[in-house]
Amino acid sequence: MRNVLSRGGKSVERPSLLRDIVQEIFLRRKNVKLISVRMGLVTLLAGGLIAVCSTSAVAQDAAGTYKAKCAMCHGPDGKGSAMGTKMGARDFASAEVKAETDAQLTDIINKGKGKMPAYTGKLSDADVKGLVAYIRTFAKK
Ligand code: HEC
Repeated sequence: MRNVLSRGGKSVERPSLLRDIVQEIFLRRKNVKLISVRMGLVTLLAGGLIAVCSTSAVAQDAAGTYKAKCAMCHGPDGKGSAMGTKMGARDFASAEVKAETDAQLTDIINKGKGKMPAYTGKLSDADVKGLVAYIRTFAKK
């Protein structure tokens, strides 16, 4: 306080100096608060954007992988192609598939089941995880 008061010498004579200082300190504090709020918002926004982007990127990947590797048997809509249905593939929207846990679906994709080929080594864990999430979207439609 003393530093500020004696700065410039002249200002000490101003009667409103103390008020000015108080105001300045108050405003600065407010600014600091505002800045941290803003920074928080920016961080939040950036984080949200990254999250949204990477989620949709994974979803995009899963959709592409599904089309390329799974749709010929499971159909573009998860209901099963003519060939897949003949082999015994069930509609992903069916109660049976809905009742299966993510872990069970992951297991079937990795290890295969009946005529369903195993994908261990052909797909990464992240791919399989994305596919399970993608398969779930058929059940919601
Ligand atoms: C050659 C045909 C074929 C391809 C390609 C194929 N599937 Fe299958 N899938 C099947 C058949 C047939 C079944 C049913 C197996 C059974 O229950 O005997 C099945 C079952 C499943 C199940 C279990 C659902 C249930 O009925 O319990 C999941 C999950 C699955 N497939 C995911 C996938 C994914 C993901 C891909 C692509 C990476 C894929 N499948 C590719 C034929 C195929």
